[in-house]
Amino acid sequence: MAMAELLDGKTTAANIRAELAVKIEEHYLRTGRRPGLAVVMVGDDPASKVYVRNKHRASLQAGMDSRQVILPDTATTGQVLEMIEMLNQDPGIHGILLQLPVPFHIDAQMIVKHLDPRKDVDGLTPTNMGRLMTGQPGLRPCTPLGIMELLSRYHVEMAGKRAVVIGRSQLVGRPLAVLLLEHDATICVVHSKTPRPWELTREADIVVSAVGQPQLVRLDWIKPGAAVIDVGISRTDRGLVGDVDFEAVSTRAGMITPVPGGVGPMTIAMLLSNTWQAFQGAFTA
Ligand SMILES: NC(=O)c1ccc[n+]([C@@H]2O[C@H](COP(=O)([O-])OP(=O)(O)OC[C@H]3O[C@@H](n4cnc5c(N)ncnc54)[C@H](OP(=O)(O)O)[C@@H]3O)[C@@H](O)[C@H]2O)c1
Repeated sequence: MAMAELLDGKTTAANIRAELAVKIEEHYLRTGRRPGLAVVMVGDDPASKVYVRNKHRASLQAGMDSRQVILPDTATTGQVLEMIEMLNQDPGIHGILLQLPVPFHIDAQMIVKHLDPRKDVDGLTPTNMGRLMTGQPGLRPCTPLGIMELLSRYHVEMAGKRAVVIGRSQLVGRPLAVLLLEHDATICVVHSKTPRPWELTREADIVVSAVGQPQLVRLDWIKPGAAVIDVGISRTDRGLVGDVDFEAVSTRAGMITPVPGGVGPMTIAMLLSNTWQAFQGAFTA
């Protein structure tokens, strides 16, 4: 039985990070300056802690200055805003990421709105979202950008192809749909109110699932030869799993991302790449 080609996010991300590390080192030797990334976390969610630590490690490995700013879950929206304001003004910090989710009482939208768009390395400010919608250059959200980079490095054709995105979050589904559209794919976005989503995915050349529900995407949802991208992360007693029934779907898809080792590492690589762009002053406020 033919098996799908693995879209290896781990190796691809390692290559991107190594390429970046060379550029950063060269720049440092010339100028004595390094990019600086601050990751702001509120509370002590164990999964977020792991993500923040991984980002910290990855930025140090790439030769960046890395700051982890961890505020207690008793922090108010005002206190988080004060911290963001300090980082906005800090000349040693070029990228700021607010680790989501934040505790319930914190107004995440309000905080994101106050990020300096030049330092908004997850591309979530209204300025960068507006640029995305209008096709102007800007900082793009890391996970959708990582998916696009993976598709492009594996030469997955997008122009004229049908793509179904499952999930419509601000962080993943929506921006990804716009990026796929920018690459001339024909887009359909499926969400929790969509009846019989499999009727749509079965027609798709590219299926991206960003839901967080194990075993959602099954063999009979997939057209033979399709590229299947699994963004979902769920913690189960079998460890971390995605949204896709990987074993079954691999027997029908043309290409597939594993979980872990697919989209996750690409997200971190794009965070570093966006920080490098921001450091170079690629975008105005
Ligand atoms: N690998 C990475 O780097 C990375 C990065 C970010 C997120 N993630 C993972 O990706 C998943 C999604 O993250 P998110 O932030 O986008 O989550 P989210 O904000 O919770 O959004 C989930 C989306 O899935 C939709 N949905 C829920 N049940 C559905 C169903 N049965 N059929 C179709 N759609 C359904 C929801 O629809 P409604 O809008 O109608 O509610 C919503 O749009 C999570 O598992 C998260 O951990 C991974």
